[in-house]
Amino acid sequence: MMQSGDSSRETWGSKFGFVLAAAGSAIGLGNIWRFPYVVGENGGFAFLIAYLACVVVVGLPIMGAEIALGRASKRNPVGAFKALMPKSAWWIVGAIGILTGFIILSYYSVLAGWTLFYLKQSATGEILLPTIAGDIISAVTLVSQGIHIQFGQHMTGSLFTGFVSNSGLVVLFHLIFMLLCLLVVGQGVEKGIERYSKILMPTLLGLLVLLIFRSVTLPGSAEGLAFLFKPDFSKLTFEVILLAMGQAFYSLSLGMGVMITYGSYLDRNTDIFISAGWVAGLDASIAVMAGIAIFPALFSVGLAPSSGPGLTYIVLPAVFGELPFGSFLATLFFLLLTIAAVTSAISLLEVLVSFATDEWHWNRKRSTIIMAIVAFLLGIPSAMSFGAWGDKKLFGLNFFDFADFLSANVLLPVGGIMIALFVGWAWGAKKVKAEIKDGNEKLSLFSIWIWMVRIVAPIATLTILLTKWL
Ligand code: TRP
Repeated sequence: MMQSGDSSRETWGSKFGFVLAAAGSAIGLGNIWRFPYVVGENGGFAFLIAYLACVVVVGLPIMGAEIALGRASKRNPVGAFKALMPKSAWWIVGAIGILTGFIILSYYSVLAGWTLFYLKQSATGEILLPTIAGDIISAVTLVSQGIHIQFGQHMTGSLFTGFVSNSGLVVLFHLIFMLLCLLVVGQGVEKGIERYSKILMPTLLGLLVLLIFRSVTLPGSAEGLAFLFKPDFSKLTFEVILLAMGQAFYSLSLGMGVMITYGSYLDRNTDIFISAGWVAGLDASIAVMAGIAIFPALFSVGLAPSSGPGLTYIVLPAVFGELPFGSFLATLFFLLLTIAAVTSAISLLEVLVSFATDEWHWNRKRSTIIMAIVAFLLGIPSAMSFGAWGDKKLFGLNFFDFADFLSANVLLPVGGIMIALFVGWAWGAKKVKAEIKDGNEKLSLFSIWIWMVRIVAPIATLTILLTKWL
């Protein structure tokens, strides 16, 4: 048995706690902000099917591989590779993961800060929904005429541009959000991450069910449901499949070692496949449910689904503005979004914290504070990207878009491929088998899984990367 880690390592209180925390990491802005707008831009049903297929074919195998790596080594992503294959260069994969963690956390916290601001505005009734609706509807008309509205494009008078260009305010909310994460992670694995996940995840589910109920009972909601569920394979192009794959990686928190880190706190009698199945299943279900909450409402007030990344912050406020009790519903929605963001961001921070505690022997308090400060500072350029530093570009993208692009489209897929190749080929079939066997005596599904990890997942992922770059 591989017991390379130290026995004083923190652990989850229960299997259920682990699944909720890992699902909390997976379920985030990726499900509720990113998924609906990508679905909206890519033909609804066709994208949904491609996405679900990617979750099963690529996501599930890599999720299992990451959890196994973590549980076998009881280490952070860098330490995991070092412990399982000392004197090899594989630890570099973990190091890239840590770097990716800094990048994602830095801009994710900025985005979550916007959410927090919207939560505050809607809770205090300051969002002035109906007055901005006119503006938004004209923006959406532009979109439906084929003019793509991007972040940062000026729509005078809208709350969104007014806010995101106010860099001081954006930095302030980025700071508040990072402090929230620091408070949770600073309390540890079981007493922090697990305890809050157990409270926040059921709350999230409850809020989402409420919003779905409101949305599907609106007049004209059937059209929105048809957009999502009416079979139409004509829109299923190669491009759509590629986008679906990227979304699956991002949404499942794969490719940089979150699941390695969370797996490192897991006890040996847990079935890794069943846990991975639960996490991926919950994540995909919440994404689909977010679609069910959003599209019927959108169609019901006559707005187009294809409005891009601004869907959540620009179009939905207009939807709420048209509904009775709009500010109340908006408050619920942005609370939902904030909760989703917190449980994801803490997983990113925990990866960095586990790295500093394992490799540098810092204590948790010190690691958490220093890592949160570094991630906060790294996020400042992203926070200024739609305001004061709007004209500073890297490869034609502002800092925020660059961080999102680099991590989601380059670093995560590369990390995913390397993790799959390590587990499938380098680590050794016997050791992988022994690791899975603890908790899954019969090794059910092992032979299918190992070939998914060896061949299917790396080749499918490599195909996206190459198609994007060539
Ligand atoms: N999965 C989260 C979301 O859907 C984001 C996230 C958290 C993430 N940790 C990650 C993405 C690690 C990639 C890698 O919002």
